Amino acid sequence: MTADTLQIEIQPTSQSRLQDVDFNNLVFGRNISDHMFIAEYRGGQWQDLRIVPYGDLSLSPATAALHYGQAIFEGMKAYKNEEGEVLLFRAIDNWKRLNKSAERLCMPSIPEDVFMNGLLELLRLDSGWVPSQPGCSLYIRPYMFATDPYIGVKPSDSYYFIIFTSPVGTYYAKPPRVKVETHFIRAAEGGVGGTKCAGNYAGSLYPAKLAQEEGYDQLIWTDAREHAYIEESGTMNIMFLIDGKLVTPYVSETTLDGITRKSIVEIAKTWGIPVEERRVSVKEIIDAAKDGTLESAFGAGTAVVISPFATIAYEGVDYALPEIKEDSFVNKVKNYLTDLRTGKVEDGFGWMTKV
Ligand code: COI
Repeated sequence: MTADTLQIEIQPTSQSRLQDVDFNNLVFGRNISDHMFIAEYRGGQWQDLRIVPYGDLSLSPATAALHYGQAIFEGMKAYKNEEGEVLLFRAIDNWKRLNKSAERLCMPSIPEDVFMNGLLELLRLDSGWVPSQPGCSLYIRPYMFATDPYIGVKPSDSYYFIIFTSPVGTYYAKPPRVKVETHFIRAAEGGVGGTKCAGNYAGSLYPAKLAQEEGYDQLIWTDAREHAYIEESGTMNIMFLIDGKLVTPYVSETTLDGITRKSIVEIAKTWGIPVEERRVSVKEIIDAAKDGTLESAFGAGTAVVISPFATIAYEGVDYALPEIKEDSFVNKVKNYLTDLRTGKVEDGFGWMTKV
């Protein structure tokens, strides 16, 4: 079987695992769908495009990505509407961001048709894996890594691009307690913080582990020079509602250009809510928490969607944040995004693609 336009060879599984999944108790990242899309880069070209049953890869122990970290990824989501059709959220933005990461990591770009056709064919084949339960979605993980079996340090000449998917529920079971990090850093100017490369996540694990030992769920990263300005939180962008204004650190080379983040900014603007994308100091957030003008602080990302924080900790003091009210901006924008993604409200932004 082939998907005509791009010659994607399709080898369907003879044994679906779909019936083994408890869709009413989905745990983030636990279940992987039946198939994966693979493209290989060799001799300056993407080739051997195929969809095969999800399974192990055979790699040389010298595989370059395992040693020098030429590995990048994306996170995106698909939803089902009431008619059972599959809808994809802002896929083109993920494709563009992957290529931005690729450029910085000296990796080849993925042509739009390879990314989109591979993704759409995969979703057609595994459409049964897209959950329709409230709060659930199909998480999509496109990624690329260097495959040269070579241990000299240089850009690899060969790469794998793979997409697999996973039905997911909520990322955080309860609002996270987050701690402002004032020693370790996630990114520095001139580095790779603005890319979605694997090493950014590896480097965050140890500081996050230390914070967890102190009873926090995540960190708020601050700038590398002074630890005075807020950048991101854990695996997500960070946003604040202060005195009726939506305030968020601007996107820079040390922060990720989050797609959920920019969607929230666009929605807020169309709703007439004042938005400030700028440098945000730790001091002003702590002052706002103290004087009661900090209405909410939340993480925004594909995996977490919108995740209001319960507490922000800074220099040994916990600042409890107010409960999120039903009619708050946080709830309204979260519900609106869900309705948009599940086709319940019209997509005036042109963000959705029907699979
Ligand atoms: C996402 O939100 O999609 C991410 O990439 C975060 C992930 C590390 C869980």
